[in-house]
Amino acid sequence: MSVNKDIKRVTTHVLQAMKEQGVKITMLTAYDYSMARILDEAGIDVLLVGDSASNVMAGHETTLPITLDQMIYHASSVVRAVKRSLVVVDLPFGSYQGNSRTALDSAIRIMKESGAHAVKLEGGQEVEESIRRILSAGVPVMGHLGLTPQSIYKFGTYTVRAKEEAEAQKLMEDAQLLQELGCFAIVLEKIPAKLAQEVAKKLYIPIIGIGAGGAADGQVLVTHDMLGITKDFQPRFLRRYLSLFDTIKEAAEQYARDVRSSDFPNEKEQY
Ligand code: KIV
Repeated sequence: MSVNKDIKRVTTHVLQAMKEQGVKITMLTAYDYSMARILDEAGIDVLLVGDSASNVMAGHETTLPITLDQMIYHASSVVRAVKRSLVVVDLPFGSYQGNSRTALDSAIRIMKESGAHAVKLEGGQEVEESIRRILSAGVPVMGHLGLTPQSIYKFGTYTVRAKEEAEAQKLMEDAQLLQELGCFAIVLEKIPAKLAQEVAKKLYIPIIGIGAGGAADGQVLVTHDMLGITKDFQPRFLRRYLSLFDTIKEAAEQYARDVRSSDFPNEKEQY
């Protein structure tokens, strides 16, 4: 399969071909119809309905509170907007750990009720049974290793992961396990660039990095961060392409001035 921007529909097979042909994969988060339409039209390969919606859309401090129903609501809105991108949905905290039957039920609900194309979940060997069971039902699974925000209370901080040899070794083993189980790709979050490079080299499935350096097979960012809608989150790995917080605030201030001064609406803006 040859891959280029004219590809009509991104599938997991297209992502695999991209890795094999050295074509970088682009991925951004989306939680609603309007943003998903823009990102799909921009040619972003994968739209992730991330559980970061818990922070970005709902204002929670962590990703833990978001529910399966809420993820399905966000995912359905994104799916309705998309023509080309692959839509991957995070299984939220509590919907897949510990019980593989629950994991399968959660994945099936996402696929059936939202029309998404794949699910993502955090962890390696600890969630092996859940991954096996979801895959056995024919649902594509994306893994997520390194900084796994659903385990924030276990780790205590959002600092770089796998800097020590033992943790790096475990991450490599988990990545290999996810590949053997049949995951179609893995997100590596906030780990040393050298380790991500080693994983991307060793594995044949695509590795998508966030704060994991330039050697990964693709990159993902939280859209609200790269557009500068969120303001206070400034990690080193984040490149801001716009400062929309200030732009939108200025527009809202201008609107308020126009209303208060009776400048808006003018004669052309009424019936
Ligand atoms: O939920 C999310 O946005 C994510 C990305 C940071 C990869 O998992």
